[in-house]
Amino acid sequence: MITTKKLRQKYLDFFKSKDHTIIDGACLIPENDPTVLFTTAGIHPLVPYFMGEKHPGGNRLVNYQKCIRTGDIDDVGDDSHLTSFEMLGNWSLGDYFKEESIKYSFEFLTGKEWLNLDINKLAVTVFAGDEDAPKDDEAAKLWQEVGIPTNRIAYLGKKDNWWGPPGITGPCGPDTEIFYWVGEGEPSETSTPGTEPDNWLEIWNNVFILYNKTAEGKFEELANKNVDTGMGLERTVQILNGFDSVYQIDSIKPIYDKVLEMATDKDIIKAIRIITDHIRAACFIMGDDMGVGPSNLDQGYVVRRLIRSAIRRSREVGANDECITVLGKLIIDNNKDIYPELERNQQKIISELKVEEEKFLKVLDKGEVKVKEFIADGKISGEEAFQLYTSYGFPIEEIQRLGVEVDMEDFNQRIKSHQDLSRQGAEQKFAGGLADHGEMATKYHTTTHLLQAALRKVLGDHIAQKGSNITAERLRFDFSHPDKLRDDQREQVETLVNDYIRMDLPITCEELSVEEAKNTGALGLFNQKYGDKVKVYTIGEGNNIISREICGGPHVKKTGELGQFKIKKEQASSAGVRRIKAVLE
Ligand code: SER
Repeated sequence: MITTKKLRQKYLDFFKSKDHTIIDGACLIPENDPTVLFTTAGIHPLVPYFMGEKHPGGNRLVNYQKCIRTGDIDDVGDDSHLTSFEMLGNWSLGDYFKEESIKYSFEFLTGKEWLNLDINKLAVTVFAGDEDAPKDDEAAKLWQEVGIPTNRIAYLGKKDNWWGPPGITGPCGPDTEIFYWVGEGEPSETSTPGTEPDNWLEIWNNVFILYNKTAEGKFEELANKNVDTGMGLERTVQILNGFDSVYQIDSIKPIYDKVLEMATDKDIIKAIRIITDHIRAACFIMGDDMGVGPSNLDQGYVVRRLIRSAIRRSREVGANDECITVLGKLIIDNNKDIYPELERNQQKIISELKVEEEKFLKVLDKGEVKVKEFIADGKISGEEAFQLYTSYGFPIEEIQRLGVEVDMEDFNQRIKSHQDLSRQGAEQKFAGGLADHGEMATKYHTTTHLLQAALRKVLGDHIAQKGSNITAERLRFDFSHPDKLRDDQREQVETLVNDYIRMDLPITCEELSVEEAKNTGALGLFNQKYGDKVKVYTIGEGNNIISREICGGPHVKKTGELGQFKIKKEQASSAGVRRIKAVLE
């Protein structure tokens, strides 16, 4: 059997042999200014480098990146979609372009000493062209040259063959996707992912990052021609072993088998798959070094939904109440060699799972009482069901499980308008971010470093960054601290930041090894596995160093450029984490 470990290593070895530097993957919760709630692809942490910043590892990079995607959550339970998955990626920052990218992919997939896949079971898609970018005949020709026959090359539109930006603005471009045949027998002469999408599984995506999508929706050409590729680790292991589903691979099967063992109703395969997927994803999110537990806010809300949905399903398949913590332990054990943060955060993961389970069981009890209050002639209205869901968190499936009839049309209508509203909210959250190198966003990046320095001075060295989000209008900074800031503390922090600004301190950037960075006392995460270089931004000089942080940038040159700093809000973000929103006036 080819394991995930083996494929990961082969990928790194292959690209290393092509002069790529192995770099570490990033946290699942974007560490420094997210454009999205989660890292959904390997490109997220690299966005600044596609926008022109210099990467300390050079222009050819390779890594593996844990990712979370909630956009595909409705597909979870099928053979290949996962909420938590790993992406293997190779990157060219203005170095090689289409030709090498396609040659490398083909060699890795079909080379005897690499994956040795059957060319007859491979197919590709390329961009069909539209008003934003031309038809990608070049990519199609390159595929033919390496050995993919014309009848296995499909031209598709933006929906399929365009990737990015990762948020609302940022790097993007046409892509070429690589598929493997998962249908019965052999593919027919005319079969492509365009004609038979269900029989071809996408395993790798090579994006030609040529544009920056602006806030106005325009596609501006980038200074460099770049490549961003992402191979789905789990799916590729699935097809390499000839498995029917991703639940049979080495990193997932033990979890799936455990659920199956604990279930009394073993035929509800979809529910068993969903429990496996959701608890895996929840553990990875909680076990991240920037990890977040269940709450009603942003990432925490996703964790809550994943756990609660898994609990509901575990009841559906008749598994006992310990089920999710048993799975949590297994997931930590099975993944800790590759992701040691899971072990570091083990206690937190297990206790959060337990607490959330207790909370949800209470919701279910309370909800049942409410249902009985609302019920009339064995029925409840759509409005009541909606209220039970939004005010008490009581899921519609539980109402149905109680044998109560609900006006589903009305309920679904209400849920849809509710979701449309939340979606608008979520999109606003995604604006700005690392792709935003505008003047104000740059100022807020530097201000965030000053704020962290001031918080540490006023509150103590336990302050650690737990998240950050920047738009052109404000900064938002989450940090570990148990209590609400007192008025005098808030004032002191504000005054300190304004003092730092008035001192007009210089900001300098150095590229250091992780060891060197550590020795300078720079703040940041030191969980790197590869000895690559990091960028360290220092504010101040000589005896007056205010801050040193590992960061991708961008920053202003002198703090005097920033303006007047004002804290607008200080509130709880999740247990033990506070959130400050602040502006420059
Ligand atoms: N960004 C592309 C994707 O997520 C390739 O890495 O598919």
